[in-house]
This record gives sequence, C-alpha cells and structure tokens, in this order.
Amino acid sequence: MIEDRYDIAFVANLAKREKQIQQNYRPVIAVHKWFARRPGTLFRALMLAEFSALSLQDAFYQAGNLSGKTIADPFMGGGTPLLEANRMGAHVRGCDINPMAYWIVRQEMEYLNLQDYRAAADELRKTLERELGHLYRTRCEVCGNPEAHAKYFLWVKGADCHHCGNPMDLFPGYLVAEDVRHPKNVFVCAECGQLTETSDRKNSWLCVHCRAPLPIAGPAKSSRCRCSRCGEETTYPNGTKTPLRHRLFAIEYHCPDCKPKHQGRFFKAPDAEDLAKAAEAENRLAALAPQYIPDDAIPAGDETTRLHRWGYSHYRELFNSRQLLGLETSCRLIATQKDERIRNALATNLSDLLRYQNMLCRYDTMALKSLDIFSVHGFPVGLVQCESNLLGIENGGGLPAGSGGWLNIIEKFAKAKAYCDKPFEVRHQGTTRGGRKVTVPISGEWIGDVRNGEAKRVLDIACADAAGRDWQPESLDGVFTDPPYFGNVQYAELMDFCYVWLRRLVGAGNAAFSAPSTRHAQELTGNESMQRGLAHFTEGLAQVFSRTAAALKPGAPFAFTYHHNDITAYFPVAVAILDAGLICSKVLPCPAEMGASIHIKGTGSSTVDSIFVCRRRQDRTILKPDDIDNAVRDDMQALETGGLTSTLGDTRCVTYGHIIRQAVNDLVADWKTQRPVEDKLDILARWFVSFGGQEAVRGLTGENCSHNSQYSYSNQTSLPIAVKGSAHGPISV
Ligand SMILES: C[S@@+](CC[C@H](N)C(=O)[O-])C[C@H]1O[C@@H](n2cnc3c(N)ncnc32)[C@H](O)[C@@H]1O
Ligand SMILES: [Zn+2]
Ligand SMILES: [Zn+2]
Ligand SMILES: [Zn+2]
Repeated sequence: MIEDRYDIAFVANLAKREKQIQQNYRPVIAVHKWFARRPGTLFRALMLAEFSALSLQDAFYQAGNLSGKTIADPFMGGGTPLLEANRMGAHVRGCDINPMAYWIVRQEMEYLNLQDYRAAADELRKTLERELGHLYRTRCEVCGNPEAHAKYFLWVKGADCHHCGNPMDLFPGYLVAEDVRHPKNVFVCAECGQLTETSDRKNSWLCVHCRAPLPIAGPAKSSRCRCSRCGEETTYPNGTKTPLRHRLFAIEYHCPDCKPKHQGRFFKAPDAEDLAKAAEAENRLAALAPQYIPDDAIPAGDETTRLHRWGYSHYRELFNSRQLLGLETSCRLIATQKDERIRNALATNLSDLLRYQNMLCRYDTMALKSLDIFSVHGFPVGLVQCESNLLGIENGGGLPAGSGGWLNIIEKFAKAKAYCDKPFEVRHQGTTRGGRKVTVPISGEWIGDVRNGEAKRVLDIACADAAGRDWQPESLDGVFTDPPYFGNVQYAELMDFCYVWLRRLVGAGNAAFSAPSTRHAQELTGNESMQRGLAHFTEGLAQVFSRTAAALKPGAPFAFTYHHNDITAYFPVAVAILDAGLICSKVLPCPAEMGASIHIKGTGSSTVDSIFVCRRRQDRTILKPDDIDNAVRDDMQALETGGLTSTLGDTRCVTYGHIIRQAVNDLVADWKTQRPVEDKLDILARWFVSFGGQEAVRGLTGENCSHNSQYSYSNQTSLPIAVKGSAHGPISV
C-alpha cells in the first residue's frame, strides 16, 4: 500500500529531475502542449507502491503489472496518471471538461504507425517547401547566398504620434541580441534601421552605417512612447479598436554555406527582397478564400481581456499574413490525408505548431530563440514579436536550427510516439546530486490500446464534466488524479487559441468539438469573468470526488495532488474528501513544478505538491491526530535527502497538507453532506481558527524563528473570492 511503501526521498529525486527537463523523462508529453503537467514518475511511484509487492526502488525499474485493474482520472488534463496506468497494462477511464484535453490524451495513447506517419509528415513538408519555401529564404549578408534560411523575423509594433502624426516604432530597447550565445551585442539603429555589432554594452557606441548613437533603452516604456520629432508623449494601446501595426526590422538567419566558418549567429536588417516576400504573403493571403482560418471572436475573460485592450477582437488577428498563409496551406494538405490516425496526428501537430506561429511570440535576446505564446500562463502582448520559420530548418547534424517550425514539431512528436512503443526510465548512479544518467528500457511496458494481438486494453477517454459522469459501482481499483488548483490556470481561455483551429480541421462529426469554445460554466477554476468563486469550486470538486469515490472497489485508493499558496484554497479539498465519504490516511510531499518556471520564479511560490492518499471511510479506521510538527520536519528532511532545496513556501504547502488531513479526520464524525456549501466552508474556516490559524502555521513552518523568511503572510491570505462566513459573519483566516 502507498501508505507504507511510498518513498518520499526516492520519488522527490526523480520528480525533481523530471520537472527540470520533462521531455527527457516522459517524451510522450511532446504530443501537444498542456499546462502544469505533473511528473509521470510520481504517479508511477504511487501506483507501484500500491500494487507491487516489491520495495518501490526495486519495482520502479522493472515492468509493472496492472493488467486487469481499472484506474480512473476524472480530471485528466494532459493525461499523466492515465498514461502511467495504461503503460503498466491497466484499463483506464478518464474525462476532462476541456475538449483539447480529451483530444490530446487520445493522441498520446492511440497506436500510431510511425513509419507511415513519418512518410506523410515528410511529404507535407516537401509540399509546403514547394509552395511557400521561398517566403522563408533570405540573402546571406556574408556570402550573398540568396537561399539562406530566415530563422526568426523580428517585428516591432508601431503607432502614430498623437500630437504630430509622426509614425513611431514602439521600441522598448534597441538591443536585438546579447553577447551570450553570440560573440557580439547586436543593436538596431533608430535613425537608419541598420544593425551594428558591438563588443560590449558598457561603452556608448555609434551606428557603423550612419554614426547615430546606439542607446540600449528605447522610447517606449510603461504604455508611453516619446516622439522623436515633437518630443511629446503618446500612450498605447490607448483603447485602440484594432491591433497596432507591425514593422519587420531584423532577421536572424542561417546560412548553411557560411555556417562552418562563421562564429555565432547571423543577423541582418531586412532588405528589399525580404520586404517583397512579406508583401507577397499578404497578397496571396488576400486572394485566398480561407477554409480553415478561424473567424471566431475572442470572448472576454480573465486572461483574454488583455487582448481586447490591445485591439485584438478575433483570433486570426494574432497572426501575420505569412503565418496565416502557411497555416491555411498546412490545414488544406492535412485535410487530404486518407488515413484517419495520420490525419489526426498531423492535425495535432498543427495545433501545437500554432503556439510558435503567431504574433504574440517573443524573442529571447539572451537565449536567441522564440518564446512561444504559452511560455507563461496568460497572453502577454509584447512590443517586439518573433515570427519563426514555418518549415523548420535542417542543420545537417540532425538537430533543427531554430525552433517553432514543422520540422521541430514532427521530430518531437515522432520521439514521443516512439517512446510509447518502448518506454524507459532514467536511473541516476552515484550521489543524489550528481552522478551518471543511465537510460533503463522497461521492456514489457508500452502505451496504447492494442499491440501484437495482446489483450486489448480499455481506453475510455471522454470529454465530459466529471461532476455529471456516472461510474459503475465497485469498478475502480484506484483513482489517481490531479484536480484543478483554484484559479491558478485558465485552461479553457488559453486552449481556445488552439481549439478554434483544430475544431475546423477535425471537428466535423465529433461531438467533443461541437461548442465554439472550450469554456464551460462547470469548469472548476476560480474565474472572475465567469463569476466562479470558491463555492462553485467546492461544490464541483465535492460532486466529482463523491461520484468517483463511490465507484471504488473496497480498500482501493483515491490519491490526488494539490498545492496552493493560500490555506483557504484547501478548504474545498477538505469538503470534497468529507462529502465523498473518504478518510485521508496519508499526506505525502513531492516536487511537482519546475523552480525556474517563468510563472513561479521570483514569486516565492511553492513547487511542492501534497499528495492526499484517501480511502473510503468504511475501509479504514479513523486515525489518531497527527503530530504535525514531526510530520512536517520528517517530510522536509526526506525532500532534502531527495536533493530538493526547499523554500519557506514549500514548507508552508507541506504544512497545509498535514493541517487539512487533520481537519478532515477531526471533522469526519459530525460531517453532514447536506449542509449548504457556504456552511461547510465556514466549518473549515472555523476549524482552522480553532487550530490556531496563521499563527499556528508560522509556528509549524519555523517562520517565527527564521531569519531568512521570504514571506509576508498578510499579503498571501486572501483569495480573489473570499470565504464568506455564513451564520456568524465573515471569518478572517
Ligand atoms: C491540474 S489539471 C490536470 C493536469 C494533468 N494531471 C496533467 O498532469 O497534465 C486539471 C484538469 O481538470 C479539468 N477540469 C476542470 N473542471 C472540470 C470538470 N468539471 N470536469 C472534468 N474536468 C475538469 C481541467 O480542464 C484540467 O485539464
Ligand atoms: Zn552565407
Ligand atoms: Zn544608423
Ligand atoms: Zn510627435
């Protein structure tokens, strides 16, 4: 059983490494982007701890055997728990309210003939090359080769001065590239538009073409730009009804002829041919009757309203003409594919490609690569945008040059599906921190529905609201899941960006794609625009837990991960466990996010999840109250043994997990499911106050006596939609 066989340090070490480079440990995730994927190693460990008779460390590197067992995940997202279960031979049942999740999990798990896929993908690239290849070629400034490949086109937003009408480039800065991956710094000149390379950024440099000074800072800052002609300030986006224009100002390219003897990257300002190619794309697009370019409006939302502020009212406005032409042409070619699985695979590729082929991508001036639209969980609009080469660039050595093209997507997809046939684990030999990496093939395991006449595994993957889904009583050997974390990621608002395209390509006749948007009133996230607060989240979570738990076989585990920086966001979890008739028998810590994630870094947030291991009440005697103090200390010690340098935020999340377990076990005897949800949340809030509130948390995390405390709790305790006290007025926790 998990409770006695799970090994915190061992799993923490694996999960931490996995989260640093997830595609190296679970290449299958490259099938398509999904947000906040949990580590596969964690769920493998949980299932092996539950179902294998061996010690976890022994079981981990051997084929697991879950054949005949049925594992469910009502919130499958990118599919992590189900992939792990399926891989060990289990039947899997899962659902997600978001059609994109449903689609992605199917694509991850269904068998695909890789050879046929490769042939079709190569053919697609060849045709695109014939039809559009020249639009991505540029003249090399070193050798004059007209067939160099444009890697990234850099575009700057523009606006007219409100005072004198002067057309202005909204440059936040003039540095195009830093001397980290390239031997020099590259500046664009505000006067003549040409590029100059400099050996440092400390001295003041002059443009080598026109002798104008080359400052680092540009005129655009904090929504204001100073006009170089009249000296007045103009604000942007300033309620604009249409998106601001873009001007092509630089190109990073790849010249195969010069590359062997050239140091660093190749940069140029666009020449007349480059501008003519952009114009050609515009004209060709204008002459086209689009069949696949979505005409959907962007609905308002917590994340999407920012796009409206910048004048984007329709999804298609997030792309430039060359991108739209390339995507429309790709869709038309994909639609002619006869083999359904191959067509679906290529459509999935197109959907994933979109995140690099749009005008919200930014250029990382240090790493010299494109940052795709989902590199943060929102839609930030930049002033400089990066257009990647649609086709992708072959580099001779096998690895593509640049990112964000068809070649890149096809390569990683093929690797992902090859892993399904031959999954592996990575063992680290030597010390926990260093050591040699050894890939251990796990023969006997595979991901998919059918293979070589072996017994067919059930893949019951649905697009559905889990709160309304019926599960057969006593049919599940385990529920392993990762519920949404209140308000953290607006899955639907983000995924609509892909969905509006995919729906046109594969939606016909597929009920999951019938709605125009993936947004759903029953999605369990806090969302201010849709007025979904903690009560909605609690009710939904409790319904899903109750329905799924009711289908467990006697003694079967119900395990899920959770983390939040605010204790009030855990109250719904406690209510859901109690309503579902479960008891929390163990809470385990595990790193589950990358410390350096752009959305975590610098916020001091926790990267550690609590795994709540629950069983049905009738299967388990109620446990004595935990000694939380010792439990937190032991957990932090074990995480450290596993190689995790934890922050105070991590300790706090671990502590919250133990507190919630205690709350559940304290409240179970008098719990009445039929009470209104506000009252139930109120009971949790009062329990927490009687437990000692934040003062008690500070005592447990050691924050009171710590000198390097990074947190101010006073800033951290309010959720967007606060817990309302019911009978006795609001409660401050
Ligand atoms: C934290 S994610 C799961 C991530 C997944 N475990 C992974 O590693 O990729 C939670 C998922 O719950 C889904 N969800 C939210 N409300 C739901 C509902 N009412 N029914 C089913 N799924 C829902 C979201 O669409 C999201 O995909
Ligand atoms: Zn050249
Ligand atoms: Zn100049
Ligand atoms: Zn002016």
